[in-house]
Amino acid sequence: MSNVNVAIVGATGAVGTKILEKLLARKFPINSIKLLASKRSAGKEIVANDQRFIVEETQPEAFEGVDIAFFSAGGHISEMFAEEAVKRGAVVIDNTSAFRMVEAIPLVVPEVNLDALRQHKGIIANPNCSTIQMVAALQPIREKFGLKRLVVSTYQAVSGAGAEAIAELEAQTKKFETRADIKAELLPSADGEKHYPIAFNAIPQIDAFDDSGYTLEELKMMNETKKIFGLPELQISATCVRLPIVTGHSESVYIELDQEGVSVDDLRGVLSHAPGIVLQDDFMAQSYPMPLFAEGKDEIFVGRLRKDPDHPTGFHLWIVADNLLKGAALNSVQIAESLITIRTS
Ligand code: A2P
Repeated sequence: MSNVNVAIVGATGAVGTKILEKLLARKFPINSIKLLASKRSAGKEIVANDQRFIVEETQPEAFEGVDIAFFSAGGHISEMFAEEAVKRGAVVIDNTSAFRMVEAIPLVVPEVNLDALRQHKGIIANPNCSTIQMVAALQPIREKFGLKRLVVSTYQAVSGAGAEAIAELEAQTKKFETRADIKAELLPSADGEKHYPIAFNAIPQIDAFDDSGYTLEELKMMNETKKIFGLPELQISATCVRLPIVTGHSESVYIELDQEGVSVDDLRGVLSHAPGIVLQDDFMAQSYPMPLFAEGKDEIFVGRLRKDPDHPTGFHLWIVADNLLKGAALNSVQIAESLITIRTS
């Protein structure tokens, strides 16, 4: 696989466009690229890295001759076309939640569980954006000190909900000049659900609710983390909140380690050598991660490290990353790069 035929399903979307950018920027060994989207976008021109591409409609035949197909067009599109692509010889790297919890399908963050990739049978799942940055940042800590319990609260950007959600925040920001205007607004929703304004707001609901009262986003974080770490017994609970930020997810993470006697400096030590992690943790200099500065960056930023004064193994961390890059497109492209390394090694 030195000259790879690639397809991107959802190529016109928030993540799809970043996948194309990352493939080109990282000089992925491409022979051809097919950009696929809905019928509406067929014929549309996309220019990236001074190259011109024409979007095609996603159909089963479009996967003929494709070696690696990236999917980021929603779960139902993956359910419709991923098997079709595999049947035609492609390996699918799926950025939706369609297959993540299927036991036989690897759910991969290369810095954490690269070995799982070797077990794939055609489909590889890319985890949820908020899961990726958390497990990648916690991996070096877990490896050295063990992880018993994890409580996470997220502060998530609207780009995680796609290009339309970005447009909605931008439109609301222009339209509503004061908070008073927007308070009265309940936006129309296609499915009859309540749809609250995001500008000037914080919405403690991402995706639908389960009977338990957790949202599906929270359950994704909880279940995916156990699967990626291979720790079914891990105690984990999540609260996921959407904020009026375009790009960059932030997470307040509380952990309890297996090992006692660990210091904040010990955590700093392992994090400072971890691949893809930037330690930004100097409170005296007001140095800590923020989404505004993580946007466009490949790395995961970690700071605000503190020991819980009332628990011998408890610590707080603040983890920030570009949700469209490490949280989605970059991780998918890293999976593809790892596939090639595995095949050629
Ligand atoms: P299109 O632009 O043609 O609607 P986002 O996550 O930013 O909302 O993007 C969703 C992506 O999924 C877009 O590229 C969108 O293409 C694509 N998509 C939506 N519906 C379909 C479909 N029926 N078949 C293939 N791609 C689809």
